[in-house]
Amino acid sequence: MTWAATILTLYPEMFPGPLGASMAGRALADGRWSCEPVQIRDHATDRHKSVDDTPAGGGAGMVMRADVLARAVDAAVDRRPDVPLLAMTPRGRPLTQDRVRALAAGPGVTILCGRFEGIDERLFEARAIEPVSIGDYILSGGEMAALTLLDACVRLLPGVMGAASSGDDESFETGLLEYPHYTRPVEWEGRMIPQVLRSGDHAKIDAWRKTQAEIDTRSRRPDLWERHEDARVQSPSGAR
Ligand code: ADE
Repeated sequence: MTWAATILTLYPEMFPGPLGASMAGRALADGRWSCEPVQIRDHATDRHKSVDDTPAGGGAGMVMRADVLARAVDAAVDRRPDVPLLAMTPRGRPLTQDRVRALAAGPGVTILCGRFEGIDERLFEARAIEPVSIGDYILSGGEMAALTLLDACVRLLPGVMGAASSGDDESFETGLLEYPHYTRPVEWEGRMIPQVLRSGDHAKIDAWRKTQAEIDTRSRRPDLWERHEDARVQSPSGAR
């Protein structure tokens, strides 16, 4: 079955963009997923095709109009009533690997890409749209965020990642950052691949990787580490 992505945007030429290359591009060509950008402006009704207006209450920039966006959203929902409806915005809930996994397991996504200062808030309530952020920084629009979300989903579709990796060891799948990787040459600029990785002792290698993952998570992602430690307090059996 084809996993269907519909993207509502003022810049349809940005899709599939980088997702037309590499693994995602091959999967797209193979029909494992589809990518249909929709020009929001085509749903404007006035002769200027306007999609935005000045912010109520004053302030800088422009706000995307709820009435125009609702027409674009309704047309997309009419065609694919079964897929979740998301909007990319820095005001959204942070995207997680859990959410990505759930989206990849479903029939696809419809994604509204915000531009300007934002989207009229009434649209989120009126159309039950899930606001999603990809991180605490501001992009110039939701398109790059949508591409990021799509990439994260598409690689998990059946047959896309291939036999190379099940992905089970990867960062976030374990609740920790992944362990560090090395490959030949054994010595490079005076630095050696850690001896344990060349020992052939798989129990030792597993233990070393777990320790490294913990050290790196603790220093780089204290937020993840804290959650990991809290979970350990709640289930100290090591069942995880
Ligand atoms: N649009 C602008 N910045 C964004 C972000 N960080 N996440 C999602 N959408 C965005």
